[in-house]
Amino acid sequence: MKAAPDLAALEHAKGDWIGAHGKFTALMKQLGSLPKEDRPAAGKLINQAKAELEAALASRREELELKAALPKEPTDFTLPGRRRALGKLHPLTQVTDDIVRSFRKIGFVVADGPEIEDEYHCFDALNTPADHPARDTQDTFYLARLDGSQSSAINHQLLLRTHTSSVQIRVMEKQPPPVRIVVPGRVYRRDNADATHNPTFQQIEGLYVDKGVSVGDLKGTVEFVFKELLGSDVKIRFRPHYFSYTEPSFEIDFSSSLTRKMGKEWLEIAGCGMVHPQVFENVGYDPEVWTGWAFGFGIERIAMIRYGINDIRLFYENDLRFLRQF
Ligand code: DAH
Repeated sequence: MKAAPDLAALEHAKGDWIGAHGKFTALMKQLGSLPKEDRPAAGKLINQAKAELEAALASRREELELKAALPKEPTDFTLPGRRRALGKLHPLTQVTDDIVRSFRKIGFVVADGPEIEDEYHCFDALNTPADHPARDTQDTFYLARLDGSQSSAINHQLLLRTHTSSVQIRVMEKQPPPVRIVVPGRVYRRDNADATHNPTFQQIEGLYVDKGVSVGDLKGTVEFVFKELLGSDVKIRFRPHYFSYTEPSFEIDFSSSLTRKMGKEWLEIAGCGMVHPQVFENVGYDPEVWTGWAFGFGIERIAMIRYGINDIRLFYENDLRFLRQF
């Protein structure tokens, strides 16, 4: 038993001794031929020997099984370990974090609001009533209420927010002025996906309310943040525009080596303006006392300019060959 070199040999030896045709089995069979008075003593001896044999068998089996489980080659414990690949932040998250970091430096805090919004906060409170033509450019997905009830007030109809501007209203409803917030977040529109559109994308909103706030503050702030984000050669230009929740309203164009790389001197990048007095009225702020500005821009658009990406859909495909570059 002890000499069996491997498990197969051990099984073989086991058969020889205690198998159906083994030596012990034969001995037991011979017991009958002994005189009656000798049989108990002889039986006892045989059983004792058999028990010893079985113990030897078990211990050798354990040894051999252990040996079989060991690696054939010796282990080199000085080899380097297998490294787990580290993930990293999505390029849109990186851009969002950078923008937020710049605004934090000048005293802004991050605010948040629901993506499932009601019509009042998304449009009406922002001075955009149901029959306003500005609603057409921001068509979205409307939701049934969970309990199946129809709200009596039409402006409490639920929808996916079309812009982060709704959070301006949510924040001002909850706190008295002054306000200094940025709101990064996901927004939704009924747009077909193409190289520059996607039915869901991300924006960052800004709102500053205090006494004596001016367009000059707005321009200086925007210029500071864009220089931090896109390089110190950035130039900013305001063009008159229309938004129902700001008066006056502007579109922000910027110019830098990045825009020239894209073959243009000026690229439109954001909307902004001085908060409309009606919006202040809607949240209970006195427009005779408080002034403010707001802006909103698309994170994807900035990331596309910053990294020279020509198709917005690349951000959502989760292709590691794309994502590893950032
Ligand atoms: N909400 C606008 C959009 O989705 C962007 C915008 C324009 C936000 C002007 C503002 C603003 O806060 O003042 O296109």
